[in-house]
Amino acid sequence: MPLPFSDVPAFRRDPLALLLHRAASSNSSFAPLYLGLRPLWLVTDPKIARAVLKWSTAEIDKGSLVQTIRPLVGKSLLTNTGADHSNVKEAVHRHVHRNSAVANLDRMIGIINQFVARSLVDRILDTDRDLPLLAFQLACVVVFGHEATSAADRTLLVEAVRTVEASVAASMFRLPFVPRWPGQMRRETQKLDAARETIEFVIRRVRASEHKSDVIKGLEAAGLDDEALAAEVLGLLIAGHHTTGATMGWLIHHLADDPELAEMIAIEADEVLESLEENDDARLKQAQLSHAFVSEILRLYPAGWWTSREVFKPVEIAGKKFAVGDTIMVAPWQLHRDARLWFQPNELRLDRSYNEAAYLPFGVGARACIGMSIAWFELQLFVLQVTSALRFKRLTVGAPQPKPSITLLFPSSRYEVSTREPAEHGQSAAYQN
Ligand code: HEM
Repeated sequence: MPLPFSDVPAFRRDPLALLLHRAASSNSSFAPLYLGLRPLWLVTDPKIARAVLKWSTAEIDKGSLVQTIRPLVGKSLLTNTGADHSNVKEAVHRHVHRNSAVANLDRMIGIINQFVARSLVDRILDTDRDLPLLAFQLACVVVFGHEATSAADRTLLVEAVRTVEASVAASMFRLPFVPRWPGQMRRETQKLDAARETIEFVIRRVRASEHKSDVIKGLEAAGLDDEALAAEVLGLLIAGHHTTGATMGWLIHHLADDPELAEMIAIEADEVLESLEENDDARLKQAQLSHAFVSEILRLYPAGWWTSREVFKPVEIAGKKFAVGDTIMVAPWQLHRDARLWFQPNELRLDRSYNEAAYLPFGVGARACIGMSIAWFELQLFVLQVTSALRFKRLTVGAPQPKPSITLLFPSSRYEVSTREPAEHGQSAAYQN
């Protein structure tokens, strides 16, 4: 029997490799990971993973992890449990859905066009600098409303959200036995307080604006007080921008890697973008190639690469008994790359079927991603607009490796940007045959 904590060195070195290796070497539906005093159970069977995520939240739900981050991000969908969670989720869900994005279609096209134009002027895409900002701007349109925030507001918000995220990451990955000095703790608290004040200041301005979004109106109508509303907005921004920003990085990487694929998607883009009309995304839904490309990128690099649940009442799942306090982990990263579940799991293939139990980029059940349809919309629009106008050449040496943090990040990379040449039209015939 391995010792408690014995997997910690391997986890700190390369958690992605550890998850793949542990699942591959296990014949059971639950593979143990020795990261604490008690083993943590990684679910390796996709049907059981779904069952765990759909389990009654009175028995299995997010646990001590969300309690750790609640003081930093406040009480919101991300950190609440039980009735507090389900009531707000229902209210937020009524307003955060694909139509909240579709209603802002023109504005979102405008933001991506600005990104395209800026990239062409700079001739360089710096993924760390440019993509989270783009994703943040798109999230702001949906969450706050078109013209409800100024450019200055958004700059303040980006910094403030970054500060909160850094505190969350530090608290999640901090080793309990490493001391923190009082001066360091005081400075961190001051920075966090200032960030939260900034966020609350911007939200007060948005609430007073006649341009505020349906999302803000819906949260107000749900009876959320100022503090709860600010926490909810912060949660949406945190959950909604690095996830989409990192996915955009992987999309660009594969477009740069495969110019013929880029051109085929550009041809689809030429047809689709022309026929998009305000408030109408029907054509986007039929754009099969860009849809398959985004699906495959979400499989290969699921930004929500893992999630965990704590057992609150003794339960038996697939013949295994769990006691109160046990932790169960579901890792889309591992399920999406398991060779027993996918043909050529590490390859980008656009001919896959995604009705698989093992495909979980947005989770499932009571805690499934509330921004799923918005993210889909943004990513497909992004890939179509970008391929129709730009071509990328990777400047950073070496193949990019996913960076596991709270979410799975795209590594800092630089790309040379050029205009898509009209001469490139028609090249895709070779690809199609
Ligand atoms: C590529 C983009 C995205 C990916 C891959 C992603 C993935 C996920 C996953 C896997 C979960 C479930 C975590 C769990 O079961 O513990 C989740 C939850 C969540 N996501 Fe997303 N997400 C994305 C974009 C967004 C966007 C754009 C928003 C908001 C506008 C958003 C808001 C949320 C919230 C609030 C939750 C918590 C839901 C709850 O606990 O009830 N996400 N996301």
